[in-house]
Amino acid sequence: MASLLLRRSAALSRPVAARALAPRWRTAPIACTALRASSVWAKVPQGPPDAILGITEAYKADKFTEKINLGVGAYRDDAGKPYVLPSVKEAELRLVQQFLDKEYAGITGVPAFTKLAAELAYSPGSAALKEDRVVITQSISGTGALRIGGEFLAKWYPYAKTIYIPTPSWANHTAVFKDSGLEVKPYRYYDKTNISLDLAGLLEDLSLAPENSIILLHACAHNPTGVDPTPEQWQQISEVIKKKNHFSFFDMAYQGFASGNADKDAYALRYFVEQGHQLCLAQSFAKNMGLYGERVGAYSLVVDSPEEKKRVESQVKIVVRPMYSNPPVHGARIAAEILGDEKLHAQWLAEVKGMAERIISMRSLLKEKLEALGSTRDWSHITSQIGMFCYTGLTPEQVKTLREQYSVYMTGDGRISVAGITSKNVSYLAESIYAVTK
Ligand code: LMR
Repeated sequence: MASLLLRRSAALSRPVAARALAPRWRTAPIACTALRASSVWAKVPQGPPDAILGITEAYKADKFTEKINLGVGAYRDDAGKPYVLPSVKEAELRLVQQFLDKEYAGITGVPAFTKLAAELAYSPGSAALKEDRVVITQSISGTGALRIGGEFLAKWYPYAKTIYIPTPSWANHTAVFKDSGLEVKPYRYYDKTNISLDLAGLLEDLSLAPENSIILLHACAHNPTGVDPTPEQWQQISEVIKKKNHFSFFDMAYQGFASGNADKDAYALRYFVEQGHQLCLAQSFAKNMGLYGERVGAYSLVVDSPEEKKRVESQVKIVVRPMYSNPPVHGARIAAEILGDEKLHAQWLAEVKGMAERIISMRSLLKEKLEALGSTRDWSHITSQIGMFCYTGLTPEQVKTLREQYSVYMTGDGRISVAGITSKNVSYLAESIYAVTK
């Protein structure tokens, strides 16, 4: 430990290269300085780094060899390397061998993909799908789906322009919905003291929200807390939402990642559909297929009738067309190839389970190591929380110290992406956390 810390401080003390800068006036053309007093962008202020992606930038700039990035939610294998799923490799190979054309997809994307994405979320036997009541469009991953949904609701939802999101929620939710034209308000979700779901607070806030409000729900693997309602708690949430005629907006970025079972993770969404809720859904294939940079996602709405579906779909297209015209095809074709082929589909589900299981084993290992070091804190939430993240309970000061003195990177709220832990870095991570919490 001591030797690691020593190496860490050596890496920090890099000499700053002195540079002799020539004064600008000696080289700048006189006519130019006379015409333009200052740049057009002189008043653009420096923006803050992104709460999640900014962490990766800082991590990349760090020279310490034992550095650990637990900021962004991106799966790593046990060697800490990005993981391309074998099912994805196989699907991609099949596609390349077909030499498909690169024509535009329609505004709503690759039809084979959207059909299968809807079946994965709602289940192939879903009454809403059989009755042709699901509007679906491909999107630029989950974030794009949220944005399409936000814009569509801001334009057409007749009762409210406010969306209620849980406290805490994914760091980008507020910005996405505000930029879509919605007002964002919080509802209670997480009980910090008991490190659990604040069910009473949640139910109370949803019942106090004005009738017909829009409610954002994380379908599974709540980001950042890793705390999900149980099926019974979802039933209670559904009851309040129904009573108040609220509109549910599900964000499902981790289907399969929470439990290792894609059907189990879709429980809340499917239950709400069965209960006849008015709802919409943002889906992402970034995590469960590892298609991060391919930007594969979908936005869908369950509506009342096939006739209504046509009208709503026409307006969804009008939202999409000026935003990015139509989505990229390659990643969607990969997802469609996997979902549409029985053998590949089964292989993929096993691979998702494998990723979920590696995360679960890293949770146990981190907890064990902290306890073995003699930490007297209760770390049981590390193993009780699910999905990609652990909400550690570390304070902003502890997070800062971990970053500055130990090169361990996580988001400011103390969220760690458990997918970034490996059997090699877990000891250093536990020692570092122990050092700042003892
Ligand atoms: C995360 O929460 O880390 C991921 O959803 C990645 C992102 O875009 O923020």
